[in-house]
Amino acid sequence: MEKFNPKMKKIVKKRAPKPLIEILPTPLFSMLLLLHINQIATYLFLSDKDYANITVNDKQGGTDTCAGRYVYIHSLPSRFNDDLIKNCEAYIELRNKCKYLVNSGFGPRILEGDHNHTTRVLTTETGSWYSTNQFMLEVIFREKMRHYECLTNDSSLSSAVFVPFYAGFDVRRFWGYNVKLRDELSEDLAQWLRERPEWKKMYGRDHFFVTGRVGRDFRRVTDQDLDWGNKLMRLPEFENITMLSIETNSWSNNEFAVPYPTYFHPKSRTEVKRWQRQVKMTRRRHLFSFAGANRPEIRESIRGEIIIQCLASQGRCKFLDCDTSSKDCSDPVKVMEVFQDSVFCLQPPGDTPTRRSTFDSILAGCIPVLFSPDSVYNQYRWYFPKDHTKYSVYISEKDVKIGKVSIENMLAGISEEMILKMRSEVEKIIPKIIYTKPGAVGLEKIQGDAFEIAVARVLKRVQDAMDLTTT
Ligand SMILES: *[C@@H]1O[C@H](CO)[C@@H](O)[C@H](O)[C@H]1NC(C)=O
Ligand SMILES: *[C@@H]1O[C@H](CO)[C@@H](O)[C@H](O)[C@H]1NC(C)=O
Ligand SMILES: *[C@@H]1O[C@H](CO)[C@@H](O)[C@H](O)[C@H]1NC(C)=O
Repeated sequence: MEKFNPKMKKIVKKRAPKPLIEILPTPLFSMLLLLHINQIATYLFLSDKDYANITVNDKQGGTDTCAGRYVYIHSLPSRFNDDLIKNCEAYIELRNKCKYLVNSGFGPRILEGDHNHTTRVLTTETGSWYSTNQFMLEVIFREKMRHYECLTNDSSLSSAVFVPFYAGFDVRRFWGYNVKLRDELSEDLAQWLRERPEWKKMYGRDHFFVTGRVGRDFRRVTDQDLDWGNKLMRLPEFENITMLSIETNSWSNNEFAVPYPTYFHPKSRTEVKRWQRQVKMTRRRHLFSFAGANRPEIRESIRGEIIIQCLASQGRCKFLDCDTSSKDCSDPVKVMEVFQDSVFCLQPPGDTPTRRSTFDSILAGCIPVLFSPDSVYNQYRWYFPKDHTKYSVYISEKDVKIGKVSIENMLAGISEEMILKMRSEVEKIIPKIIYTKPGAVGLEKIQGDAFEIAVARVLKRVQDAMDLTTT
């Protein structure tokens, strides 16, 4: 995660994701079950309203299974979403993200031939694995929303209103430009929303939007150009809207953290079960591992100490160095291989407290070792068990910093029985933190993935707000 400080621009450049294995023949959107290749062009340019029109709502035996769950998608002008993506290459700051936009934001598919051992590391059907970039959630979520089973094009029937704004792409394209430019589209959107008839119903309390970046990117406090980000989340209109992001400021009461996307986007329950079984059976050679880079420019970072301890462990810790030019760290197969081969995965804060890597490690059945309560416990409350000792190990940053704790000794002291219990808990979390492929129906439909949990929570919040106003 990028930190907000004036040196930022340089840091970001250095750490911009290195190009992944190029997978040229990826058929654009071919995995979308509902669509045929010749419909791709229309698919790209269908408006959100068109989507509502082709959705058939599930009415069974006269009872409406969607009652109380209808969502209306605002038909935003394209400047708020599609144009940002269409013009991706035109913005220097976005350019390294453009190739991840394919497959509705899942990114290029990982193909069997990319490595000699791809299929051993991933599942037998590699078709559900993608080189997904960590900042693509707003694109993925909108696509999932378009396939949501209870869409309506009649906003008076809807319980919630989805605002398909690509806030992260907007803020990122003007990195380092003046504040006026950075705030322009946010202010434009606030006004657009306020003037819609849907606004008057609850003054935005039934609205929600999702961003694929950390909340602090949208919470600039001053109007100085040196200050970080834009002020989208501080505009009055957004005080009422439910905002979902990959990392929140724990003090705000209408912003909620949802999982970073991982590399796995399965289409069926069978696939998820098979993956869970694989994760359970895997023999793990390393006691622990760390995939990351040092942060010498952040004085309070414990990463230096963690790397020292890892390298001193004589093979019990596997270090995947994200600073080298080997590109191992941006290679999903290599990352998943290391995590599947480790009992514990160290997840120290980077530029911000959360890491996408935490979700990759859970996906691999590797028990996360956390060093700050803000890395997971204070963030993803909708997704993880309340009792964090069930699925993770906590070591305080301070103890590591003052050299009070040997990570290796501490982890080696955890009993085999305890490890099995924790891993089984981690395994149970997997279906909740993945974003499954949209479009599956029937028995094979995966219930309760990260998207569905988020939408259900949003609907509950709106209901609670309604109850408050009517009592
Ligand atoms: C909404 O969709 C239905 C079909 O699902 C269609 O008959 C109706 O005309 C649409 N209404 C509007 C306002 O677009
Ligand atoms: C696969 O293995 C062969 C030799 O065993 C090697 O030459 C080739 O580079 C490998 N391919 C990849 C993509 O790693
Ligand atoms: C937010 O909601 C409150 C209460 O419903 C309302 O008084 C206020 O005007 C709303 N804010 C905006 C900007 O509409």
